[in-house]
Amino acid sequence: MKNLTNLINNKVSINEKNFYTLIIGLNPSQGARSPRLWNKVYKKKKSNCRMYPADVSLKNLRNFVNFLKKDEKFLGGSVTAPYKIEIMKYLDEIDFNAKKIGSINTIVKKGNKIKGYNTDYFGAFETLKKIRSNKDILVIGAGGASKAVIIASVDKFKKSNFFFLNRKKKKLNFIKKINFLKKSKILNKLNDIHSLKNIDLVINTTSVGFDTWVKTKKKVYNLKFFSPFINLIKMVSIKTSSDRIFKKKNLKLIKKDSKNLKNFFVNHKKITIFDIIYKPNKTKLLRFAEKSGKVGHNGLEMNLIQAVKGFVLVNKNNNFYKVKKIMESHG
Ligand code: ATR
Repeated sequence: MKNLTNLINNKVSINEKNFYTLIIGLNPSQGARSPRLWNKVYKKKKSNCRMYPADVSLKNLRNFVNFLKKDEKFLGGSVTAPYKIEIMKYLDEIDFNAKKIGSINTIVKKGNKIKGYNTDYFGAFETLKKIRSNKDILVIGAGGASKAVIIASVDKFKKSNFFFLNRKKKKLNFIKKINFLKKSKILNKLNDIHSLKNIDLVINTTSVGFDTWVKTKKKVYNLKFFSPFINLIKMVSIKTSSDRIFKKKNLKLIKKDSKNLKNFFVNHKKITIFDIIYKPNKTKLLRFAEKSGKVGHNGLEMNLIQAVKGFVLVNKNNNFYKVKKIMESHG
């Protein structure tokens, strides 16, 4: 396993004799839920197989995937931020549905080849089933998970008008290619949110709100202190992870964000929030929504369903409900 561990930034000790699966991302070792969920099923089934988090740098991604193709013990796994789109070019085959969505979150080994699938769609749909909307919907974000959520939302809410917003506007270009989204509008800037008077649903698909210390070159920052309604261009990163110091350095921005949120919810009486983040259970966006009496949904269910679907695909297990039950159980 020397080659494998050389390409991973976190410490993992994989038993060479056993089959294994991975969750691949920039830092899944710091909070990804899949290893816990998948390993519960392996243990219950008395399988020696285990899922491990693999923190991989962008520069190592190609070599890493090539190594996995040749490794007989590797069965497949999950792919998480920020590689859901990036990794596609290194795979041998992409499932039809994943091609339509434009990103993958599951990889399955077939001989020496790896095929990509997207199970986020099903996960998102499960939560969307509980939500009603017939007016305007605002979707924020254009990352790997966003596309699946967007396609699921459009399939679910056929009568609604869609508005899209992302920090890098260019990344929303794919919207224009989706036939049934011709009526939708791409917003130019964050402030445009406040002019949308008719929205009854906001979906956050960005990582703003997610609790993890993100490493940049020499500094760290944590997006849990913010909502996607604030421009973070002036956010200050710090040397080592400390809630207290980070909050102190970014107090003005944090307060501005809170004020924005309060105003937004006062001005939008009937609105539901779906935030696909699941760590923390309630993001700043959800906390403010619920404080002002709105209904909020987090990403826990989406994450569970995508994990069940992924597990079933990778492990060629056809008992979706049994796997779901084990993953849902406590302990
Ligand atoms: P995932 O696979 O979880 O969707 P991703 O592909 O890295 O992760 O996408 C992250 C999303 O969060 C993107 O929409 C990203 O915006 P950009 O496309 O403009 O990069 C958004 N995001 C991440 N950090 C952000 C920040 N500091 N401010 C605003 N948006 C941010």
